[in-house]
Amino acid sequence: MSTAAHAQPDRAPPVTKLPDPHGGGELIRALRARKSSRAFSSAPIPEAQFSNLLWAAFGINRPETGGRTAPSAHGWQEIDVYAVRADGAYRYLAKSHALERVVENDLRALTGVQDFVGTAPLDLVYVADFARMAHANAEERTFFAAADAGVIAQNVYLYCASAGLATVVRGLMDRSKLAPALGLRHEQRIILAQTVGYPAG
Ligand SMILES: Cc1cc2nc3c(=O)[nH]c(=O)nc-3n(C[C@H](O)[C@H](O)[C@H](O)COP(=O)(O)O)c2cc1C
Repeated sequence: MSTAAHAQPDRAPPVTKLPDPHGGGELIRALRARKSSRAFSSAPIPEAQFSNLLWAAFGINRPETGGRTAPSAHGWQEIDVYAVRADGAYRYLAKSHALERVVENDLRALTGVQDFVGTAPLDLVYVADFARMAHANAEERTFFAAADAGVIAQNVYLYCASAGLATVVRGLMDRSKLAPALGLRHEQRIILAQTVGYPAG
């Protein structure tokens, strides 16, 4: 039998060194700076930056098709971005690039179990609406919604890195308390939260 198709155990597989990831482009700089932070100033985020942040997260970047800054499985666009601030909780309406106030109270402390969530100026909450995920079975709904929230979170990480903001995406929270406080329906599931603010100090 020929051995030509078999790996040769005494010879390491060839490794080709890639060029260093150089380049001064804005995206490369943001990727270099991307990190999780857990110490935030309580200073508010200026409205223009807040607006850019929500657009970067999951805004419309192709008005002719309704395409968004993050991909979504089957183009379902099932994730809603909620912005939880001291002055209330808001749902981001991508089509009109506007905010709908859903709660008037300060729910920040409910968005997680870590101290900083209640004092940082903004906690984003990524909520999947399973009702928009036509024909998906329960397992598909869960993993596609998680993936779709994850890519939005990375958009927020990169915007924050480029704008001098600190952020951390969070899975730890008491969803059974936060969901009713936000007035969510049963098919609306909280996937992740993400705190944003200026770095402390
Ligand atoms: C799905 C997911 C859930 C996470 N949950 C939390 C969390 O609840 N609290 C937290 O402080 N960090 C959380 N993190 C942040 C990770 O701890 C962090 O990304 C990891 O330590 C790597 O650090 P880096 O982001 O600075 O590279 C989470 C990250 C991901 C992707």
